[in-house]
Amino acid sequence: MPLIAPSLLASNFLRLSDECQMLNESEADWFHLDVMDGRFVPNISFGIPVIEQIRKATSKICDVHLMIIEPENLAEAFKKAGADILTVHYEVCEHLHRNIQQIKSLGMQAGIAINPHTRVELLRDILPDVDVVLIMSVNPGFGGQSFIPNTLEKIRAMRKMINELNLNVKIEVDGGVSLENAKQIVEAGADVLVAGNAIFKSTDPKQTIHQLKAL
Ligand code: DX5
Ligand code: ZN
Repeated sequence: MPLIAPSLLASNFLRLSDECQMLNESEADWFHLDVMDGRFVPNISFGIPVIEQIRKATSKICDVHLMIIEPENLAEAFKKAGADILTVHYEVCEHLHRNIQQIKSLGMQAGIAINPHTRVELLRDILPDVDVVLIMSVNPGFGGQSFIPNTLEKIRAMRKMINELNLNVKIEVDGGVSLENAKQIVEAGADVLVAGNAIFKSTDPKQTIHQLKAL
């Protein structure tokens, strides 16, 4: 049974409190919070003050996906804002090992996200140090894009590597996840499904979460 991480990027920000309440009452496991800087990705979303408020509105796990350059400058601030899991992008971290150690020393779980063009094999040496690998199934920056099909191969390759190394790392898949493709994604080896539009734009988000969970 996959863990479900609704992406609040697709929620109604004018009614954020109600959206958090809805997720609290649902079978959602993690709150997926997308932070964009307009540098690494061509969009800006929300940041620390908003996450602080969301933290007060839920006791579920806050899974913060940083799409920002120089994440080391803000890791402590995200911890203070309430992040439980902090995920940084492989593509912006020249000293990835140091970034991961910093996140863990601050008391958070550490995740690494990879863009669609980044090979999963590049993570082999760092894999024992991380809690989550986030495989992007769209180019980061926007919700509502289509799932890139060859992501399924990447998920299978990552699952194989994790099994070979006998590690307990979760595979999270982010972008274009829907009721139509979720089963395939889970069968390929995903542990955590992020879904924005598929949940928040559905007529009954709680029921959609239930259906994703029941796959
Ligand atoms: C994209 C974000 C995703 C996004 C997913 O840059 O990382 O988390 O919100 O949205 P959907 O599920 O609508 O593709
Ligand atoms: Zn995300």
